[in-house]
Amino acid sequence: MQTLTSNWEVSALVRQWQRDGERIGFVPTMGNLHEGHLRLVKAARQNTDRVVVSIYVNPMQFGPREDFTNYPRTLESDLQKLTNLKVDLVFHPSDESMYPEGSAKSSYVEVSTQLTEGLEGAHRQHHFRGVATVVTKLFNIVSPDVAVFGEKDYQQLLVIQQLVKDLNYPIEIIGEPTIREGDGLALSSRNQYLSKQQRAIAPKLYDVLSETRERILMQNMDLTDLEQAAIMQLEQHGFAPDYVAIRNAVTLAEADNPTDLLVILAAARLGQTRLIDNLRV
Ligand code: PAF
Repeated sequence: MQTLTSNWEVSALVRQWQRDGERIGFVPTMGNLHEGHLRLVKAARQNTDRVVVSIYVNPMQFGPREDFTNYPRTLESDLQKLTNLKVDLVFHPSDESMYPEGSAKSSYVEVSTQLTEGLEGAHRQHHFRGVATVVTKLFNIVSPDVAVFGEKDYQQLLVIQQLVKDLNYPIEIIGEPTIREGDGLALSSRNQYLSKQQRAIAPKLYDVLSETRERILMQNMDLTDLEQAAIMQLEQHGFAPDYVAIRNAVTLAEADNPTDLLVILAAARLGQTRLIDNLRV
């Protein structure tokens, strides 16, 4: 496995592989890799000849009061895990090479507001601008044939699919199902911020989503009432919910019909830790 920090070296190596007729799979990450990330890598491996993983904690997607500085950085153990999976190349760029003028002064990419302004976009100002910008940069440097993202960040996955469509990237986007602990908690780097007591409560988020899903399938309640009921349940368990939203699973538009293809999305805080999850109906 090679580890490179230079954009030019990554581009040159990948282009050499492509000239040799190999298909390139790409998994962008912010490091602190857990089983969820490793499944993305395995999916890339199954669909391509060479796998590239980037590890970069992107300052542009964090708000001023978010956890950019404290975000867990565990490069050594990440590299060990990727070596075990026989990844071909790890791209670990510096802030200076990604944002030569600093991220605040950088040009940026904004994906259509229909997808980006609600839900996470409403609670994390400019978050998707940061994600779309760094993913565009990474796509330009790596030029993969396939890129793999987790469904855990459901809105992010749709934003990336839209970006690829709107900017004509010849890249196939694969969405991989969320990996959960035995008690239902979705794997996330932020789970390690939870105290023992909060960790015991955290799986209730998935329980509430599952119960809401059952109620939608029974079709005997208005969707807005179901959202309100789910918010109340989360509060009773000790969460401070940002939202529970039942949306069209393709467009994220408000769902007016329980027979549409739906997704339930939720974000809720336990103390300082913000958890997100979703469940398709
Ligand atoms: O999902 C993530 O880890 C990040 O948002 C991504 C896609 C690597 C961009 O920084």
